[in-house]
Amino acid sequence: MNVAILKESLPGENRVAATPATVKEMTNKGMAVKVESGAGKGVHIADTDYENAGAKVVSDRSALYADADLILKVAPATVEEMDLFNNGCVYVSFFQTTKRIDQVKKLRDKNISAFSMHLIPRTTLAQSMDALSSQSNISGYKAVLMGATHLNVYMPLLMTAAGTIPPAKVLVLGAGVAGLQAIATAKRLGAQVEAFDVRPVVKEQVESLGAKFVEVETDEKDGVGEGGYAKETSDEYKRRQQELIKAHIAKSDLVITTALIPGKTAPVLIPADMVNGMKPGAVIMDLAAENGGNCEFTEPGQVISHNGVIIDGTLNLPATMPVHASQLYAKNVITFVNHLCPEGEIKLDLEDEIIAGALFTHSGEITHAATLEALNNS
Ligand code: NAI
Repeated sequence: MNVAILKESLPGENRVAATPATVKEMTNKGMAVKVESGAGKGVHIADTDYENAGAKVVSDRSALYADADLILKVAPATVEEMDLFNNGCVYVSFFQTTKRIDQVKKLRDKNISAFSMHLIPRTTLAQSMDALSSQSNISGYKAVLMGATHLNVYMPLLMTAAGTIPPAKVLVLGAGVAGLQAIATAKRLGAQVEAFDVRPVVKEQVESLGAKFVEVETDEKDGVGEGGYAKETSDEYKRRQQELIKAHIAKSDLVITTALIPGKTAPVLIPADMVNGMKPGAVIMDLAAENGGNCEFTEPGQVISHNGVIIDGTLNLPATMPVHASQLYAKNVITFVNHLCPEGEIKLDLEDEIIAGALFTHSGEITHAATLEALNNS
């Protein structure tokens, strides 16, 4: 079985889908691994490191794709790249399927069995394949570091001969994987941290990290959806939430927003009037920028200033810490590959919860309901 590890083509995408350690795992199982020359450049892995792990390094892209049975990538391949893929091969990468209909159609039309690391079920068994979590952790950590460098004040409390400096106030909106790591990182830097989430269940996690949980009073099970994920909230809840956030945001130096609802545009939690009420010099790090942003002014991929408030919509933060991001992502991918190929050959068990959950095209069909719905509505 031929496995191809592609060099990422998206600008700024420095990660890679396999490391020498994971290549070795595949070659030990009898898989023939080919790596595109320069694939590990962004993470300081040389072609010779892959060769020493048993891979063949290939410079000619079309030759690499031509005989690949299994293609491993980080970012979604472009339609042009997919044109070079073997019909009927198996493909694995991150993939927001509902947003990339043209690529989904191409995979379907080429009879490719495509898996998205975004769709790996959040179950105990699949925990070590959970690339969303491994990469969100990095986003939460990096957002605090970037936010701290935008700030023109200290993060920690300082008592000096020249006076006492109060700690910076950090507010985290959305306390999922990224938000919890942001809280922990901001606490380590000495800031005073508050957090808000629509899911009341996270209160205990927020408090165990030493932060204060900002609570919207409600009788309903508002905000809690299937599988413990967030769902859209009622208008009354939204109004109360906005009032509360407005009061807390006006006092904050750094606001980190991570609020996402799977498959939907991110909720706008910080409209214009809230930004206008913020302190000059305050900073918003919007981790939801890729899905439209949690702040009304966020420009995906840009850092802007509005009335002295910096709004940072930098995309793909994990790619700015590519060494550890790739180490963790490669581990998530190899665990999935081992699950998919228990004896070193692809075994598409469509009854398997993980395989069926992550699969979105197979045998000329779109197998993921939300993706099919997005295609029908496009
Ligand atoms: P996410 O990236 O989809 O969302 C981030 C956070 O934003 C969530 O905590 C969500 O509740 C919150 N949010 C959504 N709308 C909001 C709003 N209007 N206002 C404020 N906050 C809002 O979520 P993520 O981080 O990928 O995971 C969420 C949860 O899923 C985790 O905290 C955990 O409980 C669960 N999970 C379970 C895993 C497992 O069992 N293996 C693995 C990873 C996560």
